[in-house]
Amino acid sequence: MILLTAEDIHKSYPLNSGRLQILKGVNLEVEQGSIVALMGPSGSGKSTLLNILGTLDQPDRGRILLNGQDISNMTDNELSRFRNRNIGFVFQFHHLLPELTLWENLELPLWLANNRRALDTSYLRQLLELTGLVDRCGHYPSQLSGGERQRVAVIRALVNRPGIVLADEPTGNLDAENGAILLNLIKQLRRDHGQTFLIATHSETLTEKVDRRLYLHKGVIGLTPEVDE
Ligand SMILES: Nc1ncnc2c1ncn2[C@@H]1O[C@H](COP(=O)(O)OP(=O)(O)OP(=O)(O)O)[C@@H](O)[C@H]1O
Ligand SMILES: [Mg+2]
Repeated sequence: MILLTAEDIHKSYPLNSGRLQILKGVNLEVEQGSIVALMGPSGSGKSTLLNILGTLDQPDRGRILLNGQDISNMTDNELSRFRNRNIGFVFQFHHLLPELTLWENLELPLWLANNRRALDTSYLRQLLELTGLVDRCGHYPSQLSGGERQRVAVIRALVNRPGIVLADEPTGNLDAENGAILLNLIKQLRRDHGQTFLIATHSETLTEKVDRRLYLHKGVIGLTPEVDE
């Protein structure tokens, strides 16, 4: 089953004169339960595309279907509700709130989504056990290692049980060992919970192990890397 479809996505940014065309007709599909890597040179538009797919930014043109729903025409209110419930984000820098403990950081998305499962914290505990963070629940982000923070960021993206997790360079700041731990976590979540991931990354270690690789180059998606002349 196809979980996410993007059709003919265009995006440009204003320049002093004219516009900078970044996405020039991106088409892609992500299968339910797959781990897909989005690759491409720096500046090719990976973050731009993830933000558009995650409804944090608007395309100039194009259509996005998630869980069979066309999100292109939703109002702002519908969109933020939809986003909170259906999409999880992992950013390059973890964006954990420093004044909240690990546990409070994880509860936050439940409250933001006004999720009635908020009191069902058993899934949360299960995720913490999976990542070996159970006894760190009372720690503030400053009391966690970089790798631990990034694992918390992945768990936080999952607490609302979103259909898809969009991750932008999730291992970008991690050493090889912590990068490998994070990748194992992602694979385990796919295996045990059928979780779907779309991951923008430069990491060879990560892209070797995914189900499918997409290459963003010159504003469009290809299935093989293109080498500049
Ligand atoms: N808000 C903005 N206004 C103007 N230009 C922007 C804006 N955001 C991004 N850009 C430009 O769009 C291009 C694509 O940026 P983007 O961050 O999507 O690239 P990327 O593929 O994620 O790169 P990296 O691998 O370095 O993270 C860049 O050339 C960038 O300068
Ligand atoms: Mg980027």
